[in-house]
Amino acid sequence: MSLTHSVRVRGVLGTIELAFLRCFNFKRTPYDTISRMLDLRRFDRRYNVETAGLIDLDKLRVDSANKVHGVRYGGVTQWKFREIMNRIPLRAEELNAYSFIDFGSGKGAALMHASDYPFAKIVGVEFAEDLHRTALQNLETFRNRKQKCRDIVSIFGDAGQFAFPEGPWIMFLNVPFGIPVWKQVIQNVENASPGNGTSYLIYLNYEWLPETAEFVAGLPLLKLIDDSESTRIYQLAPTRL
Ligand SMILES: C[S@@+](CC[C@H](N)C(=O)[O-])C[C@H]1O[C@@H](n2cnc3c(N)ncnc32)[C@H](O)[C@@H]1O
Repeated sequence: MSLTHSVRVRGVLGTIELAFLRCFNFKRTPYDTISRMLDLRRFDRRYNVETAGLIDLDKLRVDSANKVHGVRYGGVTQWKFREIMNRIPLRAEELNAYSFIDFGSGKGAALMHASDYPFAKIVGVEFAEDLHRTALQNLETFRNRKQKCRDIVSIFGDAGQFAFPEGPWIMFLNVPFGIPVWKQVIQNVENASPGNGTSYLIYLNYEWLPETAEFVAGLPLLKLIDDSESTRIYQLAPTRL
């Protein structure tokens, strides 16, 4: 990220704090991890929540056969989320017809970021009980005067069993799981009522699981409309409209 971009997304003080952390990075933590953790901690302080940290699934109790296909917890940053939302070809006032759904919602970071937008409803589904509980706690303590959607639900369960509300949807997947769970989710999309309006699917950090990314890219249901900055945005194919 350039200096100008850093100042734009995290301000002068945040950029100085990041430079400081990089100078004293004796453990040689990757730059991307340092900046993500800094940004999440700043978000947490500002909004009175707790979303930071990277947590491997084998450190968490998960009562699902899909655990083996799951990816560790790591929250999306607010600035990244906003940049992605700017690439969805919808005007803000159109969002009030949409449900935002985060598959593998962790501590609820994306749910809180999404509440800056006037969605009809925001739903997250998470199968690790401790993460789900933290998300519930966060939604209680979250303070944001600019919040535009207050209908936010965090569901404790498996993404593969998620029962879709009526569409249209903005589906958000921050590299949560591998192909077997994707197959279940896609099957459920096909059986759901798409409603009126084009639905979109955001696939963040797809390059972490190359085989899964290739599988998703080949799904006839999805039409790629944007691919940049580690994020692919798909439109659900017109047959679903
Ligand atoms: C990389 S984190 C993303 C967290 C959140 N979406 C965000 O962007 O802030 C992936 C999350 O998916 C969850 N997960 C993985 N497989 C799942 C499944 N089958 N059902 C529900 N949650 C799952 C993990 O526990 C983890 O919290």
